[in-house]
Amino acid sequence: MIRKAHREDLTRMQAIEVSAGDAFRGLGMDYVADDPPLSSDALAAYADGGLAWVATDSFDRPVAYILMREVDGWAHIEQVSVHSLHARQRLGQALIVEAGRWAADAGLQGLTLTTFAAVPWNGPYYSRLGFEPVPEDRWSAGLREIVAEEAAHGLDAWPRVVMKRPLSAAN
Ligand SMILES: CC(C)(COP(=O)(O)OP(=O)(O)OC[C@H]1O[C@@H](n2cnc3c(N)ncnc32)[C@H](O)[C@@H]1OP(=O)(O)O)[C@@H](O)C(=O)NCCC(=O)NCCS
Repeated sequence: MIRKAHREDLTRMQAIEVSAGDAFRGLGMDYVADDPPLSSDALAAYADGGLAWVATDSFDRPVAYILMREVDGWAHIEQVSVHSLHARQRLGQALIVEAGRWAADAGLQGLTLTTFAAVPWNGPYYSRLGFEPVPEDRWSAGLREIVAEEAAHGLDAWPRVVMKRPLSAAN
């Protein structure tokens, strides 16, 4: 089931991010895996703002989550993480569908995200979900800022890509 995240979910959400990050170790991207999860204050801000959704198990415990925010008229996927024990069950896709619903209700143009271009479950995965790369000269000011922040954080050690999927292209 997918539902809005609550404050009681925050500790589990942090554990989900740590587990999801482990996948990067197999690609020699330990720096990404070792990045600590978002603080509970940061997660609480998303939950309180109605900008965080969780996929839950049969005990209503979160096993995956998505964080959204509006960036220049688009619904930006700030983060999507699936616990490794629940990966490849289409939970990521279901959360992105939910994000698309939120974007439509909020009158936004579609979904955007930044990700690693070559990591199989990042760029190529989003391409399969209908996202397309956005060339640098088409980045909005907000997207530019996000890319710069991520580079300052060291994520540009591997090729990054900005992607978008207009609502009209949603599946
Ligand atoms: C990316 C992520 C959110 C996908 O969630 P998910 O629920 O596992 O994905 P779905 O079940 O919707 O789709 C699975 C597809 O993703 C791709 N994929 C997922 N994990 C993969 C892996 N370890 N290796 C290769 N492809 C992978 C495959 O195409 C897979 O389809 P398949 O199972 O038919 O081969 C999840 O793998 C995750 O949390 N990864 C770590 C964190 C991360 O990279 N977040 C996104 C950063 S922008």
